[in-house]
Amino acid sequence: MLKHETIETNLGLMVVLIVLLISVAGLVEIVPLFFQRSTTEPVQGMKPLTALQLAGRELYIREGCYNCHSQMIRPFRAETERYGHYSVAGESVWEHPFLWGNNRRGPDLARVGGHYSDDWHRIHLNQPRDVVPESIMPAYPYLLRDKLDSEDLPKKMAALRTLGVPYTDADIAGARAAVDGKFEIDALVAYLQQLGTVIKNTR
Ligand code: HEC
Repeated sequence: MLKHETIETNLGLMVVLIVLLISVAGLVEIVPLFFQRSTTEPVQGMKPLTALQLAGRELYIREGCYNCHSQMIRPFRAETERYGHYSVAGESVWEHPFLWGNNRRGPDLARVGGHYSDDWHRIHLNQPRDVVPESIMPAYPYLLRDKLDSEDLPKKMAALRTLGVPYTDADIAGARAAVDGKFEIDALVAYLQQLGTVIKNTR
């Protein structure tokens, strides 16, 4: 029988036992998440982003919106009263990369979909201070001016499919036609308007 004193006076042995303890405890917490339905399967009714919405997501990344906006509502009263139902893992299973973010200079956007009209978003992105005078958000007027570049879209969808997003051949083949003639603002607004809407928005 190993005496406590033996462990406490033997640094090497103590380090080994601590590492063992943390590893086992860590595995017990983490491994089940890979097998639990609620963390590995999409929530009911979820559809992959359309070509236009996906292009909008790319713009969200390009413009660094995630530097100021999280997409992760925590399960606390103060959060759910303001932003709606807390975020659940099943909403993120097709997200590559995740855009949960860790900065909130602006409000969380996980359930902003449907909260404002398309026109509001267009005006706001063109010049936030036109609708929110005290806003510190940067203006993105070029999104209204620039045509959407869809060249890489089919490749991106194919890559997402290899990661498990259920795009069909038809989705991929039709991606460029689906966004033909659209401007960047159309894509970004389409992306924002679907955020969080698969779970009933209580906001
Ligand atoms: C420098 C930080 C910053 C960046 C970068 C930023 N925002 Fe914001 N955003 C804010 C702040 C602050 C607000 C709150 C004031 C307002 O509504 O303008 C806000 C508000 C919003 C809102 C309204 C949210 C609500 O619930 O009222 C949306 C939508 C939004 N931002 C989208 C975007 C998008 C899309 C981008 C990238 C193109 C972006 N933001 C980039 C700071 C930022």
